[in-house]
Amino acid sequence: MAIFLDTSKIKEIQKYHKMGIIRGVTTNPTIMFKDGITGGLGGIKKQTIKIAQLIAPYPVSVEVTTNDPQDMVKQAREFAKWAENVVVKITIHGPNGELDNMGVIHDLETKYDVRVNVTAMMSAQQCLLAAMAGASYISLFGGRVNNMGYNVCDEIVKLRQVLDLQDLDAKIIVASTREILNVIEWLEAGAHIVTVLPNLLEGMLVHPYSKETVRMFLDDAVKL
Ligand code: G3P
Repeated sequence: MAIFLDTSKIKEIQKYHKMGIIRGVTTNPTIMFKDGITGGLGGIKKQTIKIAQLIAPYPVSVEVTTNDPQDMVKQAREFAKWAENVVVKITIHGPNGELDNMGVIHDLETKYDVRVNVTAMMSAQQCLLAAMAGASYISLFGGRVNNMGYNVCDEIVKLRQVLDLQDLDAKIIVASTREILNVIEWLEAGAHIVTVLPNLLEGMLVHPYSKETVRMFLDDAVKL
């Protein structure tokens, strides 16, 4: 069981890495854009290398910026050279349901020795096929599934059972966290990893009643 941080902000990664809480980092183009990264592939490379060095040997996932099959392979092989702990994110299929991505995932893992995190998945079925294609990590977007009106915990339970039954090595990452409760409930359901927004991690850690209790100890320590 592990917690990854879903951000590309160095300060946030440093903060939680120092605490010994996180075991990896995940990013995507939307996160990097929101975090103010610019400069196209050069900017992605610079930021990824910084993160990779900071958290090594833990993995950092970085997503390709194209859906052209040949370019995906080319970019992924290039990204994998940036650092040993780089994992490349490939979406389960293209924006119009293009199916080439599965072959790309399979080739990267089996022919080119690149670790792949298959992303943007909304069901246990998609995740199972990605695991069968050889993906090291399979990312299920929990918050988005819940927002469609389904409980992602049902998908996590099914998926974990099937992976274990079939001896598939892929690690389930549940992403798209929305609430503090998601982390523990998704891990309990069978996720190997939950990738969490930095502010949610702080919310998990700090409790108002703990604050009050600590204040009481410190006040009484002065008095005694
Ligand atoms: O890691 C995937 C995640 O960043 C997507 O999250 O909040 O856009 O559904 P969200």
